[in-house]
Amino acid sequence: MEAYLLRIASAGARICLVPDANRRRSLCLSGFRGEYLFGKTSKGPFPLYCQSYRSTTPNSNDAQPDMELQLVQNVRLRDIGRDDLPRIYELSLDPNANRLAATIPRDADAFAAHWEEALAEPNFVLKAISVSNALIGYVCCFNQDGVDAVGYWLDKNFWGQGIASRALELLLQEVAIRPLHARVATGNRASLRVLQKCGFVVESVKVSPADDRFLECEEAFLVLN
Ligand SMILES: CC(C)(COP(=O)(O)OP(=O)(O)OC[C@H]1O[C@@H](n2cnc3c(N)ncnc32)[C@H](O)[C@@H]1OP(=O)(O)O)[C@@H](O)C(=O)NCCC(=O)NCCS
Repeated sequence: MEAYLLRIASAGARICLVPDANRRRSLCLSGFRGEYLFGKTSKGPFPLYCQSYRSTTPNSNDAQPDMELQLVQNVRLRDIGRDDLPRIYELSLDPNANRLAATIPRDADAFAAHWEEALAEPNFVLKAISVSNALIGYVCCFNQDGVDAVGYWLDKNFWGQGIASRALELLLQEVAIRPLHARVATGNRASLRVLQKCGFVVESVKVSPADDRFLECEEAFLVLN
């Protein structure tokens, strides 16, 4: 059986993690209870992390704030390179993500052409979202039809932990352009919330027709001034 060791730097503790078929499991070891996620990427079994844990010693449930390991604190942005494209392509095919975003995934050729073009644009800011050097998504700022806009996409295994919000916040610290625009299917509540937490406000809502990239859906148009 494969086992992975994770060092919790802040506490100096060591927790042995054993991946299972369900990917997520509560862990009880050395007096600490926690949750971990075993993420498999095309390049290997990373990233691997402990989402949070608490001492299981009686009366100490809220006494370990320094021992909480928040993945979001380890989120970094770095430039996307061509080597990242296979991983980004893999992420782009996720049916759950496409359903949420109301998108139709590009086929391999269209994907390659789209990203080659984007990487060649000197004014586009294309950042990998990484944790422990593993790419788990991307966030970008691009100009489309004369409008500066942001977009992002995250590996589903990492949803719901504040990572997209943190990544967009980091991008907005790097990109000084304002106004910045964003459009999002109104059914994509998580994305709407990410934008609003970062200061974007809804300017208008309309039903957008389907095209080769998007399903017909009601869309919110947001702006950050
Ligand atoms: C949209 C996406 C980037 C969100 O990433 P994430 O890391 O899970 O987002 P965060 O955890 O930073 O924030 C999500 C927020 O939405 C909230 N949220 C999630 N689902 C929700 C729902 N169904 N209704 C209301 N709020 C919801 C969360 O509670 C959180 O808000 P909070 O911090 O106030 O609690 C991710 O789901 C994704 O990659 N989706 C596929 C691609 C996509 O949709 N891209 C954007 C296209 S516009």
